[in-house]
Amino acid sequence: MKENLDPLIQQMTLEEECSMLSGESFWHTQSIPRLGIEHMMLTDGPAGLRKQTEKADHLGQNPSVPATCFPSEAALASSWNPDLICEVGHGLGEECRAQDVAVVLGPGANIKRSPLCGRNFEYFSEDPYLSSHMAAAYIQGIQSAGVGACIKHFAANNQETHRLTTNVAVDEKTLREIYLESFRYAIINGNPWMVMCAYNCLNGTFASESEYLLQKVLREEWQYSGVVVTDWGGVNDRVKSLTAGLDLEMPDSGGVFDCKVNKAVEEGTLQKEYVDSSVKRILQLLSLYRQSKMGKVRFDPEKNHELAVKAGGECVILLKNENEILPLVQTGKIAVIGEFAVKPRFQGGGSSHTNPTKITNAKEEIEKLYPNVAYATGFYINDKESNSKLVQEALEITNQCDKVVVFAGLSEKYETEGIDRTSLNLPAAQNVLIKKLAERKKNVVVVLSNGAPVLMPWKDQVQGIVEGYLLGQASGKILAGVLFGKINPSGKLAETFPNRLEDTPCYLDFPGNQGQVQYRENIFVGYRYYDSKHIPPLFEFGFGLSYSDFLYSDMMVNQNSATDLDEITVQVKVKNISDIAGSEIVQLYVHDQQTKVQRPEKELKEFGKVLLEPGEEKTIHFRLDRHSFSYYDEKHSQWLVQSGKFDLLIGQSSRRIMCKKTIEVCSTFQPKQNFNTNTSFGEIFEFPSTREYAKELIEYFERESGIDFHLGDNIEDFAQTVISDFPLKALVTFTKGRFSEIDLEQTIQKLNKL
Ligand code: BGC
Repeated sequence: MKENLDPLIQQMTLEEECSMLSGESFWHTQSIPRLGIEHMMLTDGPAGLRKQTEKADHLGQNPSVPATCFPSEAALASSWNPDLICEVGHGLGEECRAQDVAVVLGPGANIKRSPLCGRNFEYFSEDPYLSSHMAAAYIQGIQSAGVGACIKHFAANNQETHRLTTNVAVDEKTLREIYLESFRYAIINGNPWMVMCAYNCLNGTFASESEYLLQKVLREEWQYSGVVVTDWGGVNDRVKSLTAGLDLEMPDSGGVFDCKVNKAVEEGTLQKEYVDSSVKRILQLLSLYRQSKMGKVRFDPEKNHELAVKAGGECVILLKNENEILPLVQTGKIAVIGEFAVKPRFQGGGSSHTNPTKITNAKEEIEKLYPNVAYATGFYINDKESNSKLVQEALEITNQCDKVVVFAGLSEKYETEGIDRTSLNLPAAQNVLIKKLAERKKNVVVVLSNGAPVLMPWKDQVQGIVEGYLLGQASGKILAGVLFGKINPSGKLAETFPNRLEDTPCYLDFPGNQGQVQYRENIFVGYRYYDSKHIPPLFEFGFGLSYSDFLYSDMMVNQNSATDLDEITVQVKVKNISDIAGSEIVQLYVHDQQTKVQRPEKELKEFGKVLLEPGEEKTIHFRLDRHSFSYYDEKHSQWLVQSGKFDLLIGQSSRRIMCKKTIEVCSTFQPKQNFNTNTSFGEIFEFPSTREYAKELIEYFERESGIDFHLGDNIEDFAQTVISDFPLKALVTFTKGRFSEIDLEQTIQKLNKL
């Protein structure tokens, strides 16, 4: 319920109001005891609570209270399960409530533009539909516990290099279809209490000062009414940011910038209404938090640890399982190699760093399930180069074993907030070891813990590959469970794993030059690029194996032709044809067959996850709407559908398409035409209302100009001829003025009336 805050604001002095516009401390908003205004605590997230009670920092360096470390967003997205993510959000929210935290700073919803971005572990996907739906679920979960979520970093913060100042140059279509789209659904449907601005500039303006981002898109188009906060220390010009729509500066900066706002109001260069509006939104947030505090909440660390186990169990991706080496049969001796088996990498570095309530490691958890195990270090997690003594020891141990499981990955040294990676390689120490083990033994399984894609030069030599991403504090238990079949893997990649760094879409433009990064690959991010360029990836978007096998059949669409206002329903049957229960993620992509604008080969528009017992069959239902078929039209500044044929592709992944149907969609959009001297004959021919007149003009043009345009018998085919591109003004030149400039003006007037 919205409180009437005007009387309270009226009692505040200008100085008090301005003081509300920034933090009281590193993690708290301003309090004004005289008026009964309390402070609120805002703190990180997003994979677990990072509440610092002593020394504060935004890089994860000082300790924080014990909290459950859930799987990172990169892992969570691989579950493709919004309900599960909502549950994790709720668990996180409960911990925040118990610690009197008002807003948790997450989730991150930036797109994974390059696999090199050092913070990709904290983002969901390369695909905006998936990312936005996962973020919405996370927000809903957190907020269902009575605390606020803060979606971040709005927008186009897709790299760590110069993240505080870099200028992102990107066209509007790309912004809308990819980078803003990753926030749109989450903000509209999740309705987070807060939105955090990105540090970087967007097309020449700091995100924190961008009226385009904060007013036009966020407040006007998406109707967002919550608080917009800076990223920590992300203020540039505070007065400008206030008028652009940025409410709160965090952390406190000793009042330096509040004074500037105060002065600007006093001098009349800033209207006081801007201050009032922002103060009101901050007080509204406080009021929301007060209302939602339903008594003290206690959180149960054991219960949340179990939630972390359950969640992580849905995130693991089985990338390779040759000869069904997995799940491991419990015979003979198993070699467990790699320091990650005893020192798990389970969370990202930087501001999301939590202090877990407990940690499970894979070696101990494996031994609980199957004690006949021999361990060798093989390499230390921070080692770059191979250590021959450790390699030798590992080889000796594996000689006595039937199977080898290598725990490899990236340590925080290689992957952390604030720094981008420069290579997709695992450290040589690990690649050398895996190759040597694979040369000797046939039965090698590699288990990876990393926040983003790595190259796998040994892919063809090993039998099994398990991608664990950063699974949170229960990672050891989860990975052991997958290896021994306690957990049937059901995760699928929420991003493409490339074969080479050179294959990545923004290879030539990451992380930019001289303070500027050009998004030249435009809408072709992730699989949109690999598919459109026919570049084979190492593992494609949406890919993941299971211990079960699934059969797809009977795809049906409710109509073969529709308008863009109709809702289209699609269904498909999926059957588990194995003898083990398992979950399948079914993906629906749309391909525009006849597009006249630049569009990717296919785009994800729906997905569903279904749990099937052995032999069980279920029907999965999908709903498509106008947005599923549309693209962002820069000319008309809106989402539009082009009439024509669309393929609906149901896949196990973006490249494993199991069923396909084609439908005809007719656009109801009636563009207001504004023909002018540079409008081409082709354009006027395209519109039904001007088509007949276009034919007359074309025939006249050919006759009077004496140019043979090879129109042939069928003028309808003229779109294939050179005249299609001629502008109307050519009528004057090529008839040598017989068609006068006055005729041209009158023709255009007539066309615009038709
Ligand atoms: C990060 C934010 C984080 C904030 C507070 C910044 O450096 O970019 O994501 O919430 O610090 O720790």
